Amino acid sequence: MSSDETIDGARRNLVLASAAVGGVATVATAVPFLASMAPSERAKAAGAPVEADISKLAPGEMMRVEWRGKPVWILRRTQEMLDTLKKADPLVADPDSKRPMQPDYIKGDARAIKPEYLVVVGICTHLGCSPSEKFAEGAASGISDDWLGGFLCPCHGSTFDFSGRVYKNKPAPDNLEVPPYYYLSDTRILIGEDQKA
Ligand code: FES
Repeated sequence: MSSDETIDGARRNLVLASAAVGGVATVATAVPFLASMAPSERAKAAGAPVEADISKLAPGEMMRVEWRGKPVWILRRTQEMLDTLKKADPLVADPDSKRPMQPDYIKGDARAIKPEYLVVVGICTHLGCSPSEKFAEGAASGISDDWLGGFLCPCHGSTFDFSGRVYKNKPAPDNLEVPPYYYLSDTRILIGEDQKA
């Protein structure tokens, strides 16, 4: 192989790599920005709450934002998704979320301030993998004929319902974490902070 071909090959790989990381460009550009700050400012910015605009989220769609280096999912649940929660109650390990995986104001099987929008940290409580969307019900999910829809952690097979509640007898010990958050308006959520009294 000539050196020109080697350079072309390297360039092509670089283009492919750039395309692959396109989705995280905003995260990458934030790093030099943080590095330019004084240490105290940097710590504050890294732990700062993040605002999410949910105005374009269609029913059944999920968006992701990053908060404190963690992925936070915002799922706009359809009525059908919400209807599965009662059916999942006897199948999940902690149906009433008694273990402290959410702020005090998050109650009930919807585990949300507004039932339509689930806000959870997308990190499995077993060993920290990121579960995948398995929204289709039944056999189409590839999980089981009676699957109600939710999330699957492919690492060791933990499954979660549409509220991030872990199914019984799975490796993950807890439901997915609900972060502190509140609504700034009907279409904007602030993640990482409780509403001040
Ligand atoms: S990390 Fe999710 S099941 Fe192990």
